[in-house]
Amino acid sequence: MLTKDAKILVTGFKGQLGYDCVHELTKRGYINVKGIDIDDLDLTKESDVKEYISDYNPDVVMHNAAWTAVDKAEEIPDKVYEINALASKYIAEACKKANAKMVYISTDYVFNGSGNSPFEINDPMEGLSVYGITKAKGEEFVRENLEKHFIVRTSWVFGKNGNNFVKAMLKLANMGKTELNIVCDQIGSVTYTYDLSQLICDMIETEKYGTYHATNEGYISWAEFAREIFRLAGKNVIVNDVTTEEYIKIVPQQAKRPLNSRLSKKSLDDAGFHRLPYWKDALSRYMSNIS
Ligand SMILES: NC(=O)c1ccc[n+]([C@@H]2O[C@H](COP(=O)([O-])OP(=O)(O)OC[C@H]3O[C@@H](n4cnc5c(N)ncnc54)[C@H](OP(=O)(O)O)[C@@H]3O)[C@@H](O)[C@H]2O)c1
Repeated sequence: MLTKDAKILVTGFKGQLGYDCVHELTKRGYINVKGIDIDDLDLTKESDVKEYISDYNPDVVMHNAAWTAVDKAEEIPDKVYEINALASKYIAEACKKANAKMVYISTDYVFNGSGNSPFEINDPMEGLSVYGITKAKGEEFVRENLEKHFIVRTSWVFGKNGNNFVKAMLKLANMGKTELNIVCDQIGSVTYTYDLSQLICDMIETEKYGTYHATNEGYISWAEFAREIFRLAGKNVIVNDVTTEEYIKIVPQQAKRPLNSRLSKKSLDDAGFHRLPYWKDALSRYMSNIS
């Protein structure tokens, strides 16, 4: 059980998910919630991280901060490894010392995207990009160093606080674009941070440690996602389906992305956690919230 005076540290507060986690915790009546970002603590500085966590002595650390710019990551792999992998190790080690629970947010990009079946939690991690490989390493460090962990893989995230695909599509429409080429053969699930933050808060109130997949329900392509965004926004933008192969010719120098990003929710079901709402419902609530 977690009492309402539990000390909860949330990294990535200025990002999409961290912001919603802090708000959800506050809404639930937790009185000792601290949201931090890089201005408060650079998570790549080992001694600073360990000192900060030791001084704060949290009961829970929700670790949302990461390098999330997938294409840019290819240019600076060492820096991205420091943020996504090593920083997660420092936090896990500090949590072990403080006897704290830790949530580590991971990604569908830890998988290689082969086949059409949903990935199970124990499928091999064979990321195709610097982002995917470093996030997988972060998972490994957390598993090795701390038993009291929740590793939550999510995908295609959108939240109120930060940049994402939905905002990018709306910006293009507002700039007067009437036709766009969007990838149609990468299939996965979108995730509204408001919904995910509720599930993460449910998790930390238990001792059901382990690895989970958590996204809004339904498998779609980016092209289908874009069409629904424009439909809800009342924008008349034609979305042309293009394959990943075609898209790379139009926009070269991108990180490799998995074609199959379907994630199985079996471990979520087995542990008795609720699934997140259907994606269209999530998107429509999100768009009303940001308009
Ligand atoms: N976005 C997605 O589509 C997606 C998909 C799957 C999984 N995830 C995972 O979900 C989690 C949350 O994603 P998000 O979209 O909410 O992320 P986000 O909006 O990009 O926020 C990440 C935050 O981490 C901070 N950060 C970066 N480097 C740091 C450092 N060295 N020390 C301290 N803070 C640092 C960033 O600060 P600055 O902005 O100042 O750099 C930013 O506020 C991440 O772990 C991500 O890997 C995201």
